[in-house]
Amino acid sequence: EAELSLRPRFLAEYIGQENIKENLKIYIEAAKLRKEALDHVLLYGPPGLGKTTLSNIIANELGVNIRVTSGPAIDRPGDLAAILTNLQEGDVLFIDEVHRLNRQVEEVLYPAMEDFALDIIIGKGPSARSVRLDLPPFTLIGATTRAGLLSSPLRDRFGVMCRLEFYTIDELSYIVTRASEILEVDIIGEAANEIARRSRGTPRIANRLLKRVRDFAQVKGDGIITIDIAQTALKNIQVDDLGLDHIDHKILKTIIKNFAGGPVGLETIAATIGEEGQTIDDVYEPYLLQIGFLQRTPRGRVVTPLAYKHLGIAMPGQ
Ligand code: ADE
Repeated sequence: EAELSLRPRFLAEYIGQENIKENLKIYIEAAKLRKEALDHVLLYGPPGLGKTTLSNIIANELGVNIRVTSGPAIDRPGDLAAILTNLQEGDVLFIDEVHRLNRQVEEVLYPAMEDFALDIIIGKGPSARSVRLDLPPFTLIGATTRAGLLSSPLRDRFGVMCRLEFYTIDELSYIVTRASEILEVDIIGEAANEIARRSRGTPRIANRLLKRVRDFAQVKGDGIITIDIAQTALKNIQVDDLGLDHIDHKILKTIIKNFAGGPVGLETIAATIGEEGQTIDDVYEPYLLQIGFLQRTPRGRVVTPLAYKHLGIAMPGQ
């Protein structure tokens, strides 16, 4: 998969999240020195900021295997037991959307994380007994868009917690330039900066926009991504000056037009525009909050004057 080859494989290639990288580097080195498994790591933050990438890098730097799964994919305790008993010493188990593990599966995970042990019930009724099975020491890396959704017993069992932040424009510009080299497409610095500026602080979006802009460069231009090509392409893709797409616009305009600018509840917004509340919450809202276009109040979401200005809509009473 092309997407995968754009991903950095080592910490030294990974751009941004400087504080997280610096600390992880030390924890990884210490674990290797002691010949121990790295402590369990929780990565949290908005989607597309590199949680999966970072997990692969951690395993790579540790020199161990990574087993990848997700919260909703692990249905029953037996599924998790099968995964855990197949790990080798020091391996990384990556569980994406770790907040979506069900209760019974979580119960199995606690002793596994804490004591590298699996408690198995043998038999039924009065003769049932519990047998403890040793597991190889391993590192659980859990990823979630919102750490607040994690149960506290699970959260407490992660020794390392990293909150991924939105990337700066300079960092995204580097990422776009690096990706262009891998994709073997020429890009003008100014164009890389333009894509970076409109990527909502998110490498996944930057790389997606780069690929679409490259399509325009190859079909409409001479293959080189110039600033003109980038601007034309981004306009056609309906990504505005700040990187907001038509769904961001729909969210803001719905609150303004249907709910007088708010406050209005997330589920009401979701129902009005026909998107999942969860998607708005995870994917769209974090950046709109970050740039100060949306505010969260106890009574719901409110559109700010900044957003009215950006959309060119007059505020009521002005
Ligand atoms: N591609 C996607 N995210 C990246 C990152 N953080 N550093 C380098 N390349 C990337």
